[in-house]
Amino acid sequence: MARTGPSPADGRPRTTITRIVMPGQTNARGTLFGGVALALMDETAAIVAIRHARASVVTAHIHSVDFEAPIHEGEAVEVTATLASVGRTSMRIEVETWGENLETGSRRFCTKAEFVFVAMGPDGKPTAVPPLPPARG
Ligand SMILES: CC(C)(COP(=O)(O)OP(=O)(O)OC[C@H]1O[C@@H](n2cnc3c(N)ncnc32)[C@H](O)[C@@H]1OP(=O)(O)O)[C@@H](O)C(=O)NCCC(=O)NCCS
Repeated sequence: MARTGPSPADGRPRTTITRIVMPGQTNARGTLFGGVALALMDETAAIVAIRHARASVVTAHIHSVDFEAPIHEGEAVEVTATLASVGRTSMRIEVETWGENLETGSRRFCTKAEFVFVAMGPDGKPTAVPPLPPARG
């Protein structure tokens, strides 16, 4: 399936993390281990959620994880998380992962998933989050 890169500035809260895939992060085939990819995705999505809520958050749900292409040792893994919608205390965050051969610039779409985070108040209970900022453009 053809995909574009991370979408342009549209006003949605978004963050991107880029790392090089190291030997300790790979499976027996020398490609990024799925659990490591999920941890990076969770971390990136958490940054978006905490920034939006300005509160601590927990991961409540991970939905629809598709691993469509591997990322090889020595390549870059780029994870972009975008706030897609908010409820009263929950936030739905779309996460995409791209692989890049840094020497050639060749990029490929690898993984996508949806994460739901819940903002937690000082009392340890779910707390209300601000509304989604209006989309631009
Ligand atoms: C997530 C958690 C706080 C929800 O607690 P709860 O008592 O069910 O809270 P509520 O029923 O008030 O639901 C709070 C919000 O979470 C949402 N929610 C709860 N469970 C959910 C799930 N499995 N999937 C999606 N949303 C969920 C609710 O829809 C609600 O959203 P809203 O306020 O926007 O309408 C609780 O289940 C929890 O602490 N889970 C463990 C989290 C964790 O350890 N994560 C891993 C490490 S961070």
